[in-house]
Amino acid sequence: MHNAVPALKLRSGGTLPQLGLGTWPMDDAQAAAAVALAIGQGYRLIDTAENYRNEQGVGEGIRAAGVSREALFITSKFNREWHSIAGARQACINSLERLGLDYLDLLLIHWPNPQQGRYVEAFAGLQQLQQEGLVRAIGTSNFKPDHLQILLQHDMVPEVNQIQLDPYHPRAELIPLHVQHGIITEAWSPLGRAGELLQDPVVVDIARQHGRTPAQVVLRWSTQSGFVVVPKSADALRLQQNLSIFEFSLSDEDMLQLGVLGRPDPAMLDADSFGH
Ligand code: A2P
Repeated sequence: MHNAVPALKLRSGGTLPQLGLGTWPMDDAQAAAAVALAIGQGYRLIDTAENYRNEQGVGEGIRAAGVSREALFITSKFNREWHSIAGARQACINSLERLGLDYLDLLLIHWPNPQQGRYVEAFAGLQQLQQEGLVRAIGTSNFKPDHLQILLQHDMVPEVNQIQLDPYHPRAELIPLHVQHGIITEAWSPLGRAGELLQDPVVVDIARQHGRTPAQVVLRWSTQSGFVVVPKSADALRLQQNLSIFEFSLSDEDMLQLGVLGRPDPAMLDADSFGH
C-alpha cells in the first residue's frame, strides 16, 4: 500500500494533490482505460485539455472508476480561440459536456499566446466562471514571467501555473515569482521529454542508492521541492511506481545534486512564439 498523496492548499479553499495523471497524447480509448486504472490505484488528480481531444475518454474513465466526484480533482485547459470572457465560459461548458461533469476543479489558460494579446480577458472569464461555481480553482499554463506580470498588474493572480519543469528545466526564472505570489507550480513532462534525464548518471546513481527507479527519483525531486507533478503513463506498473514516491525521501545532498542539473535547451517550446 502506498502512502497517501500529500495535497497543497489552493487560495480558493480546495486542495490539490501533489501527484496526478497526465493524459497527453492519449486518445479517448487510451485515456478511458488509463484514467480508470489510475483512479483504481489511488490517483485522484487527472489532467486533460481541450487540445488533447480526449476529454470524452477521461470522462468515461472517471465514470468507470466509480469513485465519488467530490473525491476527484479534474483539470482542463482551453485554447486561444476562447480568450475572452464569453469565450472562456463557452470553453468551460464544452469541456464539461465532453467530460460529463458539472464542474471542474481547475481550469487553465493553456498557452498565453501573447501575439493575440487577450489572456487578460481570458483570465477575467475564468474569474467569472469561478464566481458562478462552474470552476473551483483557476490558473494558467506555460506563462512566462512577463505574462504573469501583466496579469499581476491587473490584480489577477493565478492559483496554479502549469509549466514544463524537470531537473534539466528547473525554471529558475519563474519559481521565485510563483513563491512570491503564492502561485502553485505544476510540472508537465516532469520526467523530461526525451528519456535522457532518466539516464543521467547523477539521477541513476541516486536511484541506485535508494533502491528506486530514476523516474521515481525525478518525481520525488519535484514533489519534495513543493511542486505538483502530472506524469503520463498508460502502464499499470509505472503508474504504481509513480504513485509510490511518497514512501521515500531524498537527502539534502541528493536535492542539491539534482538541483544543479539545469542546462539550456534550444528545443524547448517558447510560449512567446508557440501556443494554441
Ligand atoms: P508510458 O505511458 O509508456 O509509461 P509526459 O512527458 O507526457 O509526462 O510522458 C511521460 C513519458 O514517460 C511517457 O512516455 C511514459 O510512457 C513514460 N513514463 C511514465 N512513467 C514512467 C516511469 N515510471 N518510468 C519510465 N518511464 C515512464
